[in-house]
Amino acid sequence: MENPKQAALYRLIISQRKSDIGDILRKILPSGRPFVWEVGCGHGHFLTEFAQVHPEQLCIGVDMESKRIERAYRKRDRARLPNLHFVHGEAKLFLEALPSGAEFSTIFVLFPDPWPKLRHHKHRILQPDFLTAVARKAGERTQLCFRTDFQPYFTEAMAAVRDHQDWRIVEEPWPFEYETVFQGRADSYHSFIARRRLPAP
Ligand SMILES: C[S@@+](CC[C@H](N)C(=O)[O-])C[C@H]1O[C@@H](n2cnc3c(N)ncnc32)[C@H](O)[C@@H]1O
Repeated sequence: MENPKQAALYRLIISQRKSDIGDILRKILPSGRPFVWEVGCGHGHFLTEFAQVHPEQLCIGVDMESKRIERAYRKRDRARLPNLHFVHGEAKLFLEALPSGAEFSTIFVLFPDPWPKLRHHKHRILQPDFLTAVARKAGERTQLCFRTDFQPYFTEAMAAVRDHQDWRIVEEPWPFEYETVFQGRADSYHSFIARRRLPAP
């Protein structure tokens, strides 16, 4: 059984972390400006390239590994990209910490951890509760771009999107090709793009 003192401490740490992420986001996110979000950005290769090619777009990458975010920031500073930011944190906490009025233009989920064992599937990021939380910050033009080299995860993620009340799969070209570290290691991969479901007329 969980020790109540440890559980209380854990809740305190999470709440402090969420408040810290909120403070960072309020500084880097002008209200009303949609932004590109990369979930699990690793060392930031993909988003740095994206931000370089799209200087007009504000880009924020999040990753829960602090060392990866440090490296991503070094890359951003070398490239001198004022439209690019990285945040150390967990993706769902990031969603909770977003200021009201924040909106995604594009969301990239590229080669997320596959969690192949059945008992670990609950840790996969693309699940119905995540889709619901992301939809709250998505407009009609928002694209959700998912790519993985793990076929069972791809099948599960496609099904989760198809069955979700807020999302639909669309046949659209991949918006930006640039090989991520994990894409470079993959023999093959699968992608889909989803958009918000429009309310019935
Ligand atoms: C397999 S790596 C892929 C990195 C990069 N997207 C690529 O394609 O090279 C997955 C990354 O997601 C991060 N990650 C996993 N779960 C996360 C979560 N819930 N919130 C934020 N980052 C997460 C990991 O720390 C890791 O850097």
